[in-house]
Amino acid sequence: MMASSDSRLQQQPSQKDAADQNFDYMFKLLIIGNSSVGKTSFLFRYADDSFTSAFVSTVGIDFKVKTVFRNDKRIKLQIWDTAGQERYRTITTAYYRGAMGFLLMYDITNQDSFNAVQDWATQIKTYSWDNAQVILVGNKCDLEDDRLVPTEDSQRLAEELGFQFFEASAKDNINVKQVFERLVDVICEKMNESMEGDINLISNHRNQGLQDSPPESQGSCAC
Ligand code: GTP
Ligand code: MG
Repeated sequence: MMASSDSRLQQQPSQKDAADQNFDYMFKLLIIGNSSVGKTSFLFRYADDSFTSAFVSTVGIDFKVKTVFRNDKRIKLQIWDTAGQERYRTITTAYYRGAMGFLLMYDITNQDSFNAVQDWATQIKTYSWDNAQVILVGNKCDLEDDRLVPTEDSQRLAEELGFQFFEASAKDNINVKQVFERLVDVICEKMNESMEGDINLISNHRNQGLQDSPPESQGSCAC
């Protein structure tokens, strides 16, 4: 893992959290999006309930660990905070593989960051697996007076891309927890769907194996 020069990120996950083996599932999540949209701030608000207005751009990639309870399950989240700057793209996309969920973030006061959402979505398609779940997050919704990206534009784009969508604020702690909880829930839903699919497949096979006589169509076979 590339070391980060971000002093805030040098506080590694607490020994207890990172080493804690007592969980039912572990989900690897990534936060991606243009530089300065607030990815690191969002993670610090969620994991440590802290916020600073100083901007220290992330170098490379780093992570934090947080354990949550959803549907009677203890789920350990390994949340990777990526650098938005273009020059780190090769390093950061290497971490997409195996990620079960993404927060794709833009800044509601920064049109470029919203225009880049489509490209970020393509990066997800290219470097992650097909079942990865994505939530589009319009951060800095506390800055309503400086808004450049209308909510309707983002809603439309999220629908086109098949992503869920939230506006949020790391600064004012709006929708931060909700976004992570929603992402965990959609991953759980997807997992249940595919497990049900597997069980159906197994039981179909079993049913076929347990048949005493061949199906009608085979019985009437002319050969
Ligand atoms: P890179 O690491 O370069 O990719 O940037 P980043 O996306 O991690 O951005 P970061 O979290 O460092 O935040 C950039 C700046 O935006 C900092 O000055 C933050 O204080 C500020 N910021 C982050 N979230 C919010 C928010 O919700 N509201 C406001 N008003 N400012 C925010
Ligand atoms: Mg950062």
